[in-house]
Amino acid sequence: MAMKNPYVPSILTVDEIRDETPDVRTLRLRLPSNGSRLSWRAGQFAQFTVFGVGECPFTFANSPTRAEYVECTFKLMGKVTGALRELAVGDAVGLRGPYGNFFPLESWRGRNLIFVGGGIGMAALRAPLQFVLDHRKDYGEILILNGARTVADLVYKEEMNEWSAFDGVKLIRTVDPGGETPEWDGEVGLVPHVFEKIAPTPSDSIVITCGPPIMIHFMLLTLEKCGYPKERVVTTLENKMKCGFGKCGRCNVGSVYVCKDGPVFTAAQLERLPKEF
Ligand SMILES: Cc1cc2nc3c(=O)[nH]c(=O)nc-3n(C[C@H](O)[C@H](O)[C@H](O)COP(=O)(O)OP(=O)(O)OC[C@H]3O[C@@H](n4cnc5c(N)ncnc54)[C@H](O)[C@@H]3O)c2cc1C
Ligand code: FES
Repeated sequence: MAMKNPYVPSILTVDEIRDETPDVRTLRLRLPSNGSRLSWRAGQFAQFTVFGVGECPFTFANSPTRAEYVECTFKLMGKVTGALRELAVGDAVGLRGPYGNFFPLESWRGRNLIFVGGGIGMAALRAPLQFVLDHRKDYGEILILNGARTVADLVYKEEMNEWSAFDGVKLIRTVDPGGETPEWDGEVGLVPHVFEKIAPTPSDSIVITCGPPIMIHFMLLTLEKCGYPKERVVTTLENKMKCGFGKCGRCNVGSVYVCKDGPVFTAAQLERLPKEF
């Protein structure tokens, strides 16, 4: 029997286009019409193809509890993301995956969770957040700290309001100094500074953080200073990738393949990696 070529994507169709910010867009993709399903875990990613242009990795932005469709939220960076922005409802997008490891959400049942997202990094937190909200009774208190450079750059604005309406969910939003508008009623300050100011107690919490590398760097330092054990701090890496499943060696950090052994790592695991990540 012929083996399935792992580079051949499934064909999905653009069903809905939502602009989050001037350069961040969410696509809702309809699954193939042949009835095939797709299953993934929150934290995994896939390679998305614009035919004739190329492919690039995005995290699944929707939870597997909402697997009737696939969503990705992407920031305009270059060739492929530029071509993705040209797509209209009804156009085809290729998808191969899911790839990588995932957030251990089952083992976090009963725990308090703190989601700290900066800029487009919030895309990686949306699937685990939706999963937790879809199993609200299984988890403790939830704190969402979301930051962006300016008010216009905050993603998921409407959904954030829905999320914060759940019992036991607290939402804090912040923008960098100078990024506020006269109407802004959130915080002003860099994400790690705001975290330190609100100083949630480390007692039982797991912290899941994603954002630009500089934010992650200072968040990890802040969390250490605030007494969070490194085993309870989780982040995702976004190294450049090609195959997505451990064959090409494009994404490695030391002996670790980010596409296969990650992209989800605890701060304790990151500490053991060469500093190049
Ligand atoms: C596991 C994983 C999950 C990701 N999830 C998301 C997501 O949910 N949403 C999202 O917007 N982006 C995500 N990314 C990043 C995304 O893959 C890149 O932004 C994208 O590949 C850029 O493609 P492009 O062809 O448009 O840019 P290119 O034309 O290839 O490059 C344009 C510029 O972007 C830089 N660049 C390209 N890829 C990366 C990267 N991985 N990290 C930093 N800089 C890069 C290039 O060096 C260049 O300067 C993820 C990356 C990984 C590895
Ligand atoms: S992307 Fe090919 S080995 Fe990781």
